[in-house]
Parts: sequence; structure tokens; C-alpha cells
Amino acid sequence: MAAPMNICVLGGTGFVGTALINRLAQQGHWVSVPTRDPELHQGLRVLATVRLIRANVYDARVLDRLVDGADAVVNLIGILNEHGRNTFQHVHADLAAKLVAAMKAGRVRRLLHMSALGADPHGPSAYLRSKGEAEAQVRAAADHLDFTILRPSVIFGPGDSLTNRFAGLLHLSHGWLPLARARARFAPVYVGDVADAFVHALHERNTFGQTYELCGPEVMTLEQIVRTTAAFGALPCRILRLPDALGRLQGIVMGWIPGKPFTLDNFRSLTRDSICAEDGFARLGLPRHRMMEILPTYLTPQAAPKAIAAAI
Ligand SMILES: NC(=O)c1ccc[n+]([C@@H]2O[C@H](COP(=O)([O-])OP(=O)(O)OC[C@H]3O[C@@H](n4cnc5c(N)ncnc54)[C@H](OP(=O)(O)O)[C@@H]3O)[C@@H](O)[C@H]2O)c1
Repeated sequence: MAAPMNICVLGGTGFVGTALINRLAQQGHWVSVPTRDPELHQGLRVLATVRLIRANVYDARVLDRLVDGADAVVNLIGILNEHGRNTFQHVHADLAAKLVAAMKAGRVRRLLHMSALGADPHGPSAYLRSKGEAEAQVRAAADHLDFTILRPSVIFGPGDSLTNRFAGLLHLSHGWLPLARARARFAPVYVGDVADAFVHALHERNTFGQTYELCGPEVMTLEQIVRTTAAFGALPCRILRLPDALGRLQGIVMGWIPGKPFTLDNFRSLTRDSICAEDGFARLGLPRHRMMEILPTYLTPQAAPKAIAAAI
């Protein structure tokens, strides 16, 4: 087992972060997790080597203190929708620039950066453009950073906002689901496999300066993902495939609903397939799981009503 490291995980309280932190804690690493509200994440407090810190990571002095003395930093902070001053630019690109500066000041070299498949400064949505700009900030710091960038397709697993959300929506709507971009293609990747990729990269020098696309073994359309979710949750499923004009309208209208279940920017992201051009897991020498293997472990007919909470 590798020697314990001091690791600062930004965004460690989220869906991917929780899976990663459990692995890091199991390996005996000391993990600090800045969060806007430690009270909401009591589950992580029980891990003996994990410390939750209430912090505003956008404050440069706070960020300097957070990364000071770390052997490695992981940045998982990300949003799917903008709220007030939490714009994609602020949360993705500007934060990446601030983090890179803080790591330079503290002479901390190792950074694992979470991006997204399709990240591109010239991409079709503000989400993908900001993710692309964040990657560019990290790459531009190669003289003082040993970075690894990971770019997953859509991620599933217990607590996800993909299958749980669709299960909740299907349950609420008795199966009726108007779906934009139903034929958009994804390669859903298991959260445990993504977390394993981070842990593996942490220790491997040959991942320095590299970017890895992370896809599950199957390419599925959005419609197939919904139908698979319905099948495992024993839920009715009547999909209404929306033409793009209506899909755009759905994004505009639902973007005004509290919680923004779907937005115009989400629609624009869906205009680009989220599938890999290379097999990052093979390059890392890691296995990956099919949806069919994992869904039955958390998405059962009994669990579907509970998924309503995730859908709202
Ligand atoms: N889930 C997917 O399917 C998927 C696919 C591709 C890429 N990704 C990327 O993977 C990363 C993790 O995704 P996830 O699904 O684990 O997200 P998540 O569950 O929503 O967690 C996001 C984390 O970021 C922090 N955060 C969110 N907004 C923030 C803000 N405005 N300021 C500071 N911290 C903020 C949250 O921390 P606190 O609330 O504790 O402060 C939370 O720990 C993101 O960068 C995402 O873009 C996810």
C-alpha cells in the first residue's frame, strides 16, 4: 500500500467525491474536504482520516491555506446549471485559474482535475465551454503542475442524478416522459470506476500531463438509458421523443422552474454525443462495469418511490 498522503479534495462532498473519499480513507490517506456546509455531510465525518472544512474556495487567501502542505489536490467542483453568481465561468474556469495560482504559490505540484467528455472552449453549450476553459487553465500551468485530467461521460451509481432522477420522474408521471435529444449517445460510466481511476492516477507518474476519457463499456442513447432505468425500477415508460424545436422550448420553460430540471444549456450540451474517442480505462489498466451489473444493486422496484426525492 502507498504511503499516506495529505490530499485536499475540492467538491469531495458530492456524488463522485463521496465515492472517491471513501477509497482514499480506506487507503489511510489524510483527506481535507472544503465545503460550503459541513452540517449537510455528516456521513463523511465518520471517516477517521477525513476532515470537513467550511470554506469559500473562491477566496484566494482561503484557497492558499487549503492547498498549503498538500501532497495532491483533486478538483471535483462542478455544476450543471447556473444559479445567481454561480455561473459556469465562475465555478469551472475562474476557480481552475485560482486553484492553479494557489498551487503555484504553495509549491504544490500534483493536481487531479475533473473535467467532462466534450469539454471544449468552442463547444455548443456554456457548460462545455467553461469545462474546456478550465482544462486550458490547467494545461497552461504544466511548468509547475503535475496534472492529470479525467473526462467522464455521464456517471451512474447509487445517489446519481441520472438514473435516480429518471426513476423519480417516471414514477411521478406514471411513465409519461417528454424527452429532448432522445437519440443523443452516451457511454454511462460507473461512479466506482471513475473513483478508481482517480485513485490509480494519484500514484502513477506516467499519468502526469495526461488526459483520460472515461466511458463505460456500452454506448446507449438517452432513450435507452431511460428505458433501462424503467426496466430495473419496474416503472411504466412511455417516452415522447421531442423534435429539437420543442426540446429547446422545454429547456427554456423548465429552466424557469425552481431546481431547473432541464435548461436550454443542457439541451445544447445534448447536441454533442458524450462518447469516447479513446479508452482511458484501458490506458490506465483498469476494468469498468456495465450498467446492467450495477443498476440492480440500487435501483429496485422498492427503491423507485425513494427516487422521487432525487427527481425534484
Ligand atoms: N455526475 C456526472 O454525470 C458527471 C459527468 C461528467 C463530469 N462530471 C463532473 O464531475 C464533478 C463532480 O460531479 P458530481 O456529480 O459529483 O457533482 P455533485 O454531486 O453536484 O457535487 C458537486 C460538488 O461541488 C461542490 N460545489 C458545487 N457547486 C459549488 C459552488 N458553487 N461553489 C463551491 N463548491 C461547489 C459541492 O460541494 P458543497 O456543496 O459541499 O460545497 C459538491 O461537493 C463535476 O465537476 C462535474 O462537472 C460529472
